[in-house]
Amino acid sequence: MGKNAKVDDHKISMEKIVSLCKRRGFVFQSSEIYGGQNGAWDYGPLGIELKNNISRAWWKEMTQMHDNIVGLDASILMHPRTWEASGHVENFTDPLVDCKKCKSRFRADHLEAENLEKKECPDCGGELTDTRKFNLMFKTNIGPTDDNSSVIYLRPETAQGIYVNYKNIVQSSRMKIPFGIAQIGKAFRNEIVTKNFIFRTCEFEQMEMQFFVKPGDDEKWFEQWKKERWAFYEKYGIRMNKLRWHQHGPDELAHYAKDAYDIEYEFPMGFKELEGVHNRTDFDLGRHTEYSGKDLQYIDQENGNQKYIPYIVETSAGLTRNLLAFLCDAYDEEKVGDKGNADDWRTVLRFHPNIAPTMVAVLPLMKKDGLAELAKEIQAELREEFTTSYDQSGAIGKRYRRQDEVGTPFCVTVDYDSKEDDSVTLRFRDSMEQVRIPRKELISRIREEIKNYKRV
Ligand code: GAP
Repeated sequence: MGKNAKVDDHKISMEKIVSLCKRRGFVFQSSEIYGGQNGAWDYGPLGIELKNNISRAWWKEMTQMHDNIVGLDASILMHPRTWEASGHVENFTDPLVDCKKCKSRFRADHLEAENLEKKECPDCGGELTDTRKFNLMFKTNIGPTDDNSSVIYLRPETAQGIYVNYKNIVQSSRMKIPFGIAQIGKAFRNEIVTKNFIFRTCEFEQMEMQFFVKPGDDEKWFEQWKKERWAFYEKYGIRMNKLRWHQHGPDELAHYAKDAYDIEYEFPMGFKELEGVHNRTDFDLGRHTEYSGKDLQYIDQENGNQKYIPYIVETSAGLTRNLLAFLCDAYDEEKVGDKGNADDWRTVLRFHPNIAPTMVAVLPLMKKDGLAELAKEIQAELREEFTTSYDQSGAIGKRYRRQDEVGTPFCVTVDYDSKEDDSVTLRFRDSMEQVRIPRKELISRIREEIKNYKRV
């Protein structure tokens, strides 16, 4: 294999991603010192920057770029009637079977037909229980009593917080149909099987937008939102050959949906759902009208005060699942030398600059002779506009590799010439090319590079 060879995509295993995440402080196992908590993960210093960047990008695309979409931050705890109205108490279930011998639990719909028919555990051959419905909502009690009257749920989706506030928002923000409400927040599901790192967890974050439209206009908006959500991933550098659409068949459609498409990403374990676009019809507002007794009709003043329950087109993405997709997509191993040792290879995260946890690293060639001070001065100039880091320890080549491994798109190196002629070296992560530029042009050059960034 020659210089600049790449590792075959198939060799990019989840183990490598998990190991990098731990080593460099992206994601840690929750409560690790106690042996870890299944289905829960903690986001370290680089992980939280990455997560914030993805959610900021989504928020920008959904609110800043649209006059008719506003934001909301609803609470996680909601009146329990919400979940009766939404259908979650009755329908939000997975089919569960247990092995009587080894006590393993399985989703019946994930088992081979033969195992299910013979009621045979695929792990130990033991006898399986009958299939029973298992509700995925976490249930707890609010207040000092713990009887049925105090039952409360952790929300399993952020969407319902939007529906119950729909009238407040129409009235307070004078929104006119068609309009949308966007929200990012935590959701909780008591998943039977949590595997593949942060792909399916019990605690996760969603980025959801509910778009309220006139009945009859829903199919047009459904197509429009499919287009916009696809374009989001392209804009932020996800490789398009790693994405595909999957339309839900009749047996997959959620109880509220008339039509649903998933954007699937090719994770190391195969193509899996990243985001859903759903035509939820008037199901949700209709049910909340019925269960709350409140009139949730929209009065269309532009159409002779016509009254109707709006249809809803929903775009629903997992933030933490997006983070995993951005990580997997960015991960690359590249042969950059021919010495016959480990240094011949570099690991590089090819994040879009607006997604990368750190945008610019500032590196003095030496700590001494005033180079460190000068580098800190330059970092101070950059940090108002870009996320920066500073690293003065080790050989410069090693420092570049450290930055490549966490996806920093630009390194600025300050050397002895910088003291003489006020110039610096700007090094690009993807090509590893270096250019010498005047210090005063640094900010505008980085700005331009970000604007014109194209994934290699
Ligand atoms: N409001 C509609 C809704 O919640 P969903 O398909 O159940 O629809 C939407 O979830 C997105 O939320 C999924 O595409 C996925 O990205 C994310 N998601 C769902 N369950 C998850 C879990 N257990 N762990 C991580 N992300 C999850």
